[in-house]
Amino acid sequence: MNFSEKISAIEQNDLLRIRKIAQSAQNTEMLIDGKKIINFCSNDYLSLADHPQVKEALIDGINRFGTGSGASHLVSGHSEAHHQLEEQLAEHLGQQRALLFSSGYSANLGVFSALRDDIEWTLQDKLNHASLIDGNRLIGLPVKRYLHNNIGSLETKLKKQNGKGLVVTDHVFSMDGDQADLDQIDAIIDKPNTLLMQDDAHGFGVFEPNIPHQSIYMATLGKAAGLMGAFVSGEEDFIEFLIQKSRPYIYTTAISPAICVAAVKSLELIKKGEQKEKLFSNISYFRSCADSLKLEFEPSHSGIQPLVVGSSDKALNYSSRLFQAGFFVSAIRPPTVPPNTARLRFTLSANHNFQQIESLLQNVKDVMA
Ligand SMILES: Cc1ncc(COP(=O)(O)O)c(C=O)c1O
Repeated sequence: MNFSEKISAIEQNDLLRIRKIAQSAQNTEMLIDGKKIINFCSNDYLSLADHPQVKEALIDGINRFGTGSGASHLVSGHSEAHHQLEEQLAEHLGQQRALLFSSGYSANLGVFSALRDDIEWTLQDKLNHASLIDGNRLIGLPVKRYLHNNIGSLETKLKKQNGKGLVVTDHVFSMDGDQADLDQIDAIIDKPNTLLMQDDAHGFGVFEPNIPHQSIYMATLGKAAGLMGAFVSGEEDFIEFLIQKSRPYIYTTAISPAICVAAVKSLELIKKGEQKEKLFSNISYFRSCADSLKLEFEPSHSGIQPLVVGSSDKALNYSSRLFQAGFFVSAIRPPTVPPNTARLRFTLSANHNFQQIESLLQNVKDVMA
């Protein structure tokens, strides 16, 4: 195989993905590729990734439990720290039980993997995260999608399904920032033949959880919680079933127990609500500045604020000029988003200030003029 030819073809289509190197902690002000920038593309919505109390908890966790977990959960890797975090997450969400996974990607694969022999179909929102699509493919069922956030489309497709199945949706859509109407979805599914699963990677810690009765909930600890890892929560029997049947749960090393000690601190800060208040005040300031500058952002109340520009080369050009001006904003291109909807994806965090937001949006206006 000629890999260099393949890479050139990717590059010619403006789709080459590159990695910038961070020389400082994840926060709103960072040193990246040797340049001081204001970061507007982190999922660290509550600014907990560099929070003194979370860092202190992590160090305390290392002192108590060491660095690595040493094994999978079902061998010797499941510590008291993992167990306590699972219990506290379940309690916080009003769920019977929660189960930790090493990442959101593997948690999503893990749910599908466990359900392999028990479901005959799945229906997914058209804009669901790639890990949900990959999980679906993993178990060999056709990927059937309904129109994005369109309850009529879901209802029509549901009527055509026979046997047991799974309806899957992101709660906050990762590239659009809008939210699924979980109550409406829950109201039209035919329980107990149909299970509802939501991926709340971008909503956990930011929005009040909305978890319909007898549904499956997945959220990550790498975004608002400022750490890494993920969990699935639900009814006691379902979680026990995952432990028995989910290959991405069984055949992987448990996350570091120290991360769990830090996550308990993140959860405490999430519950306190101060960081969330700062985030929401930044979101509303961002929206009002964008409106007054007549920048046409997609409708979104979350920390994700996308500005669709169309072609990949435009998105790359704007992103690189913003970087020159001192703002890090990622250009999101196909296949992450549908063709011709390349965009600048701005994400807001608690630690941003109004002056940074104003200056960012003025620069966006200038580069797009
Ligand atoms: C909606 C959604 N689900 C799942 C994931 C995967 O989570 P993780 O990064 O923990 O693997 C992401 C992360 O990018 C995501 O945006």
